[in-house]
Amino acid sequence: MAQNEQKDARRITTHVLQEMKAGGQPIAMLTAYDFSLAGLVDSAGVDVILVGDSASNVMAGHETTLPITLDQMIYHASSVVRAVQRALVVVDLPFGTYQGNTKGALNSAIRIMKESGAHAVKLEGGREVLGSVERILSAGIPVMGHLGPTPQSIYKFGTYVVRAREEAEAQRLREDAVLLEKAGCFAIVLEKIPASLAAEVARSVHVPVIGIGAGGGVDGQVLVLHDMLGINQTFNPRFLRRYADLHKVITEAVSAYLRDVRSRDFPSDDEQY
Ligand code: KIV
Repeated sequence: MAQNEQKDARRITTHVLQEMKAGGQPIAMLTAYDFSLAGLVDSAGVDVILVGDSASNVMAGHETTLPITLDQMIYHASSVVRAVQRALVVVDLPFGTYQGNTKGALNSAIRIMKESGAHAVKLEGGREVLGSVERILSAGIPVMGHLGPTPQSIYKFGTYVVRAREEAEAQRLREDAVLLEKAGCFAIVLEKIPASLAAEVARSVHVPVIGIGAGGGVDGQVLVLHDMLGINQTFNPRFLRRYADLHKVITEAVSAYLRDVRSRDFPSDDEQY
């Protein structure tokens, strides 16, 4: 019991995130999809780990996030959960598992929570998914919202450009954020919208607003881990800051290994039994 309490005291919860917003302390969120990298990200001290459906692109090589399945998300999420001791683990509900069917949405969220051990789910959209948000929340499952040019609607938006520059779309986004807050979402991701609008939304709601390409006036930031580590070199949006060039590091390491194997330098006498 005492041990459990100690463990809980270290954990980031939705309440801790709320306190961070109230105290003006920025929230740091990153994606992870597997045990090894989730463990590194968690021990480095990230607050929230998102098992994003960007796994569809990053891990499986699909062009969009649409193909990834609920079973695949649960596989990624359970690998992440096994590695994490401190961060809040949020899992994306994949495309087609929550839209237009609140019972289906609840069942998808329950499967994620039960089979992966994650702490919350995220879904994309505003008023059009409010029924699903409410039904999932009614089962005691925390929900994170996600507004902007959301990747699951890529074929509706047509392209991945900044949205809500026009007043009508900006107003709809403001209203959607308030609707998600009122429904009970514990946080909202804002993706690729003007910084001034994102800051205004963050001020207008009491729940934390986490931005990706939404400027510095929000309550926290999220990036896709593989993008910020420089593993992926083909995705270069303006909002992305690269903190490493793992593409170079990995390519050089693999080339050195190939050279050593082919020249019989590896293994040396010290590297055998
Ligand atoms: O799937 C994902 O990685 C996301 C982030 C872009 C927020 O939803």
